[in-house]
Order: sequence, then C-alpha cells, then structure tokens
Amino acid sequence: MKKIFLLLTMTALFFSALADEGMWIPMLLGRNEADMQKAGMRITAKDIYDINNACLKDAILLFNQGCTGEYVSDEGLFLTNHHCGYSYITSHSTVEHDYLTNGFWAMSRSEELPCPGLTATRLVRMEDVTTQVLEGISPDATESERNAIIERNIAKITSNAVKGTHYKAIIKPFYYGNQYFMYVNEVFTDVRLVGAPPSNIGKFGGDTDNWMWPRHTGDFSMFRVYADKDNKPANYSPNNKPYKPLKFLEISLDGIKEGDFTFVFGYPGTTQRYVTSDAVELQANIENPIRINLRTIRLKHYNNAMNQSPAQRLKYASRVASIANGWKKWQGETLGINRLKGVEKKRDFEQRYQSWANDKPQYYNVLSQLREAYKKITPIEVELVYFQEAVRASDFMNRTQMFLSLANLDDDVSIVAAVNKLKNATTNYFKDFDQHTVVDRAIFIETYLYMWQAGYAPYLADKSASKAAVEKKLADIYDKSVLNNERKLMDLLNKYTAKSSKKLKSDPALKLYSDAYARAYDAQKITTYRSAMADIQRLMRTYVKGMMEMQPDVNFFPDANLTLRVAYGHVEGFRPRDGVYYKPYSTLQGIMEKENPDIYDYVVEPKLKELYAFRDYGQYGTTTTISDTIITEMNGDQIIQYKNHTVKDMPVGFIATNHTTGGNSGSPVLNADGRLIGLNFDRCWEGTMSDLLFDPDYCRNICLDIRYCLFIIDKFAGAKHLVDEMTLVKNSAE
Ligand code: ARG
Ligand code: ASP
Repeated sequence: MKKIFLLLTMTALFFSALADEGMWIPMLLGRNEADMQKAGMRITAKDIYDINNACLKDAILLFNQGCTGEYVSDEGLFLTNHHCGYSYITSHSTVEHDYLTNGFWAMSRSEELPCPGLTATRLVRMEDVTTQVLEGISPDATESERNAIIERNIAKITSNAVKGTHYKAIIKPFYYGNQYFMYVNEVFTDVRLVGAPPSNIGKFGGDTDNWMWPRHTGDFSMFRVYADKDNKPANYSPNNKPYKPLKFLEISLDGIKEGDFTFVFGYPGTTQRYVTSDAVELQANIENPIRINLRTIRLKHYNNAMNQSPAQRLKYASRVASIANGWKKWQGETLGINRLKGVEKKRDFEQRYQSWANDKPQYYNVLSQLREAYKKITPIEVELVYFQEAVRASDFMNRTQMFLSLANLDDDVSIVAAVNKLKNATTNYFKDFDQHTVVDRAIFIETYLYMWQAGYAPYLADKSASKAAVEKKLADIYDKSVLNNERKLMDLLNKYTAKSSKKLKSDPALKLYSDAYARAYDAQKITTYRSAMADIQRLMRTYVKGMMEMQPDVNFFPDANLTLRVAYGHVEGFRPRDGVYYKPYSTLQGIMEKENPDIYDYVVEPKLKELYAFRDYGQYGTTTTISDTIITEMNGDQIIQYKNHTVKDMPVGFIATNHTTGGNSGSPVLNADGRLIGLNFDRCWEGTMSDLLFDPDYCRNICLDIRYCLFIIDKFAGAKHLVDEMTLVKNSAE
C-alpha cells in the first residue's frame, strides 16, 4: 500500500506539470486563469488573449523566425534583445560608424535605419483546426497516406482562412499531431533600427557570463515598424508611416520583489518534454559530449585570434557567439539531466506507463517500438553529429563542399553560374587569408584528429597509425589543396569546363570531404534513419495520447513549436549548489564589481561609471532608507560616519521561474497587472535542461529589468524622446 502510494505521488510529481512548468496556449488560457490569479495575477485570461478585442497579444510580435518583440508605443516602437537585433546592428556598422561597439540612437525618425529582410509578425487569431486537418483519414491509413491527406487539408484550410485578406496562415501540429492549431498572421516587412546600446552594455559579460546568473547584460535593442497609409504591412518605402499597433504595453516603474507574480508572453522555439528515456540519454550523454568537445577546440582557436586584434575580434564575434551559445548550454543541460537523474526518472515513468498499457492493444507495444527506433537512429545520429561538428568545423571543409558541388555539375549553364559565384567567393576569402588560415588550419587539423581518434574517420588512416602521422597527413591536405592557393585556384576557375571536374575531384580536400560525406550520408543509413525518424514521430503521437489518457486530470502543455505562449511563475532566487544562494536581482553595483579594463567582456563605458559615481539614476533607480546602522565611508582621507542614510540603487536584472526557451528572447516579462517589467533574454545555466525536464528548484529565466533599459536610453544615451513615446506607470509613491 505504502509503495503504491509512493509510486502515485512520484508519477504525479514527475508527469503532471510541476509548479511553474509549462508554456501555455493563449487561446486556452482560461484553463489556467484561476491558477494564475491564485498565483497573484490581477488581470484576466481575456486581457491576454481575446479574439474580439484588442488585448495584450496584439502588442507581441515574432521577430523574424527566432525572437520575440513587444510594442511599447502607439507609433510602432518595439523592444527586443540586443542579441536578437545583433545582425542588423552589425550590418549597419562600418569602421567609421561602428554602431555595434559604440551604440546607435536615431535622434529623429529620418535617422532610423531600414533593415531589409527583417519581419515583425503579429498573431491576428488562432483556431483549433484538428477536425478539419484530420478529415478523410481512415483508421487504417498508412503514415504516408495520412501525411498526404493532412498536407492537402492544410493547404485548403489555410487558403480559405486568408482569402481576400493580406493575412498569412500557418497550421502547426501539437502533441505530436494529436491536435492542430491554425495561426492567422499579419507580417510587417518595413522594420527599422531605432536604437542599440554599445556592446559593452548590450553584451556586457559576453560569452563569459552567457547562461549565467548573476547577470548584468543590458540586452535590448529598439526597432520601429512602418506600415502603409492604411496601417497595413508594406515593403520599405520612405512614404510609409509608423505602424499603429492595436495595443502597446504600458511600462511599470514599480519594480519587482521576490515572490511577485510574472508572466512571459512570446515565441518559445522547441522543447522536448515528453520524449522517452532513450531520447534523453542520446541527447544528454551521447550527443552533447561530442558536440561540446569539438566546439571546445574551435573556440580555443577563435578566442586566441580574437584576443590578437580588434579586426579579428570583429571577424569572429558573431560566429563565436553562436558556437559558444550551444556549447555552454549543452554543458548545463547534461549536468542538469544527470543531477536530476533524468534518464532514470523517465525509465520509472515508462515502467508505470507499461503496466497501465499492458491490457490496451493500441498502447501496449508503443514503448518497445520506440526503443527499437532509438536503437536504429543512435549510431547514425552520432555519425551526423561528427559530420556537423567536426567535418564542417573549418571554413576549409565548408568551401570544399561548394567545390565538390561544382565538380558534380555537367551542364554548361550551371557550370558558368557556379564558377562565377565561386570566383567571387574566392576573391573574398583570400582577402584576409594569411591571418585567417592560421586559425582555420588549426581548427581543421585538430577537430579532424579528434574524430579520427574517436574512430569516426577510418578513411584517413587505420587505427594503428600514429597520431603524428595523421596530423601530418591533415596538414598536407590543407597545405597542398588547390583550394588554399589563390593563384592556382583562380587559374583553375578561369579555365574551368566540365572536363576539369576530374582534376578538381582529385584534389586531396575534395577526396577527404567525399569520404566523410559517403560515410555519414551513406544511402542505406539515411534510409534507415529517415524511416526510424518517421516511426518515432508516429509512435510519439500514440505514446503521448496514452499519457493523456492515463492521467486525465493533468493539464498537459504542448511542447514549444515557435507559436505564441504564456509562461507564468514568480520572481525567485535559488540555490545552485551547497552553500550558495542566488538573490533574484542584480544592480549596477555588480557591473562596477565586474569591471576590468583588460578583459574585453568587462569593459565599462566611462559615461556609465560617471552616472554610477553620482548615483544619477533619474526616475529609474530605487532608494532605500537604512537606519540604525552606523556607516563608515572614506572620502579622500576623511572618515565619515553616518546613521539613517539612503541607498540609491540601479536595478539591472532579475530571475524568475517562468518556463522559457530559445525564441523567448526579447519576450516581455509582465507583472500581475500585465505591465512590462522586463525583457526575457536567457536562462540560468543550472537549469538549461528545462527543454527536456523542468525543475522548479533550478530552472530560472533571466530578465533585463525594464528600469535599466529606460535608464540607458534616457540617462546614458540621451534619447529621452524615445522614452517619451512610452507610457510609464508608477503606482506606489516612493
Ligand atoms: N544564451 C542566450 C540565448 O540563448 C543569449 C545568447 C546570445 N549571447 C551570447 N553571449 N552569445 O539566446
Ligand atoms: N537566449 C535564448 C533566446 O535567444 C533564450 C533561452 O534559451 O532561454 O531565445
């Protein structure tokens, strides 16, 4: 009896959403309303999502296909993260106008910078279309028949939904295709850069602090959406007008306290909450370590180069940011999964599922089939990971791939086009070749060597070969390949015809790449892989359906899929390890503590130091009166002692228990009244396993305090006109 009780509570703990876990569907938020209000929310689900009235969802936008933004003025001004706007800030930066380094502030509308290609998408409405999508599928349909019907149905439903409008519709599967929702969107294409702080504010702490708390990054940038004269989406035109959103967010200056209710409203990209123990094992203990080790090698070489000159820093900044981002996250993820005994917990759950399923024909063998499918994909997946992370680690091999494509062409028209493209690429590549080749060559040799030692590049040399011999062989390939000799390569391209392909293919680089490709993408392996992946997709649909039947009282949230979601929780610190407690907020003082003019990530702007020295925080800082303590301070050689003094602070960041993931960057963090208090931009390292397994003791999202953002715009940058566009609300008089 006792044992059964224990099992039941464990199941409930593990498989019902834990406190604060979940990324909820706005349209169905009614189901969470009572819970949210109990947690402190003072608005209603309808204030957040309402199809008939302007509501908070109208203030949220999908920034391109990977971040979130929110309107903060009735003239189309919106906020997102600095790291989301990064490539647009970079693309407008030159050596003379280095906005990335120095920041950029449009002092008038005419100075705002168009960003071709950038989109801002508003959700107009969503709808459950499961019945229509699954219409016409007979119970005995094969998976491919099923998919074909679904595809046809989706095309019909979406085109009907937007007929006669400028909207775009997409339909996405939920719970592995047990449910389908349609999203009708309005996509704006004239989006202009309005402001960005200098990198040492917007990216303060850089990759050193990335994924970590305490954090002091001013991770924001500002853009404005423009629309045509009817307020509808239009491509860039000087005649376009600032877009009038149906709703923009009011900003609260009241700040946060530990325990305050918060919610994040945005576009989380991917989670895998319901996968089996084998999937978790594959990711956490097989794939992640390979990826991490190979990226450690690349980062070592790039970081060396970046420390050598500002030009090299600029050259590698963006790629290092992205390589390091995954590298660090996966380390936290694997540690977190293992600390939680994630694989074992999933196995326990699977046992209970199995006992429940034993007398249910549609479910009883789903887990064993899933296990079979994972057995099939695991070794192939590992090959593919090596291909991505080792073979494709160097520019050398990536270029080789382009030349191999050329060598495989046989019609003249395509050859001419490809040759022209490659000539341009070649000229560009060799511009700073001498410097770059040192880094690229080292990366090529070391990653390849690692792969060979792990047994994944037997075509290079057999196991008994010495490391030095293989290293020499790799160096020779790099040094002798025509790809690394500008004159010879241009010669070859200038004279290139279909007949040259044989010569090109005999180049050692092309040979090496073909061997690697043939191994990783072996036709039979790929067929097995594809069919096992399709099986997993189908089996997961059944598995998850069973899970829901097994626990009818649980409100299951669907995995993130880059659709609009609400995550709620509260401001809360945590204990990352024994003896350490993390407070839930950080202040400007921490920036001064981290300051180090010799470390790139910790350089502080003189202007910021000055504002700090004078505690010149305007209306954005906090003031606390401390009494009964005698404070002793040195002023020059004078000792001052005082009682009952006030302390002024500038809040910078805070953490909360909102369940977020990649894509949530830039999402508004809102308070109990639905007012903006921060911008979501990261998670704490100890909790990055939350994509697979959420643990309320460790999982925290990291937010920029909106007051720091406003302080930087107003007091630091002197762009008060932008703050004046916003609506600031202060409830409690201080
Ligand atoms: N970790 C955050 C996210 O996944 C921020 C990444 C950008 N910052 C960086 N230092 N690489 O997007
Ligand atoms: N930094 C992530 C983003 O860019 C957010 C996260 O993974 O928590 O979306």
